[in-house]
Amino acid sequence: MPTRKISILVCINERFSDRPSCGVQGSAKLAKQLEYKLQEAGLPIPVEPIGCFGRCHEGPNLRIAPGGAFFTEMNSARLDDVVAAVAAIIHPPAQPATCTDPLLASLSGASDESTHHSDR
Ligand code: FES
Repeated sequence: MPTRKISILVCINERFSDRPSCGVQGSAKLAKQLEYKLQEAGLPIPVEPIGCFGRCHEGPNLRIAPGGAFFTEMNSARLDDVVAAVAAIIHPPAQPATCTDPLLASLSGASDESTHHSDR
């Protein structure tokens, strides 16, 4: 099964002004902690610093890429949520097998109603 190439983008933008920024709120430290937690969980996913998501008032922010979940107002306690989300992408829960053989399906009671015949 092919593995999707995913990474975690962490905004580390530092803006020393009245405007908030993820970097000033400790996002670089969160990125290091996340990297460690992912390694510990056996999920060697790259954690990549980026400039800004444009959602500075909600930071610190990070996102699973490409196109994955966006995490706002991050802190150390919530990093496990990110690890769980990555694990769910890499190791999705197994889907129950669907039996397409009509004989086996009828033995398991999972056959289509239209295949049953009754003697009236
Ligand atoms: S500074 Fe992090 S989203 Fe803008």
